[in-house]
Amino acid sequence: MLTFGSIYVSLLVPDKNSDIFEFIMATIKVKDKDFEISIDASAIATAVQKMAIEINRDYEGRNPLFIAILNGSFVFAADLIRKITIPCQISFVKLSSYSGTASTENIKELIGLNEDLKGRHLIIVEDIVDTGLTLDKFLQDLEKFEPESIKLACFTFKKEAFKKSFRIDYLGITIPNDFVVGYGLDYDGYGRNLPDIYKIVKS
Ligand code: IMP
Ligand code: MG
Repeated sequence: MLTFGSIYVSLLVPDKNSDIFEFIMATIKVKDKDFEISIDASAIATAVQKMAIEINRDYEGRNPLFIAILNGSFVFAADLIRKITIPCQISFVKLSSYSGTASTENIKELIGLNEDLKGRHLIIVEDIVDTGLTLDKFLQDLEKFEPESIKLACFTFKKEAFKKSFRIDYLGITIPNDFVVGYGLDYDGYGRNLPDIYKIVKS
């Protein structure tokens, strides 16, 4: 067992049926909960690339402004923006509705938006849409700034938990209604640094 701060990882299990050591990821512990691999880094990279290709095609000549929602989207935003080949800008805002592993449905206010959004083509960058309450409120707030258009680029989507009706224009991967960490997503602030996405092991 290897220890990474509060994250304990069990790996490198020898495969008894072959001479090769298979790299089997069992479970990892983040803070006080066990998680198992759900989406690996190569599947993540493929999905990000696909989203970027669509955005590059749709926004040619439109000078989009990406607005990434902190904290969770910082990893996805960094990957996505480096695959964007057209002129663009990026800004970051902060809002959050989560505490522990359950949505509090208590939407916090928007912090950090200093750009003039009037007449701009906005692409909102979000790590995950769960109930959709956070983004629904944010989209209403953004309309007041009179942008030319607003589209959403969300990396993961918990379709079964979704309570709203807005459209996700660029979607990475639809996931089951399980709590996940990694690739920017956290459990009480831990696990954001994991390059893969892990889902909680239900006890
Ligand atoms: P929503 O308002 O329920 O859609 O939740 C949106 C926010 O909650 C996301 O931006 C995440 O920060 C957080 N969140 C939702 N589901 C998860 C999860 O499974 N793991 C970690 N954070 C999550
Ligand atoms: Mg988020």
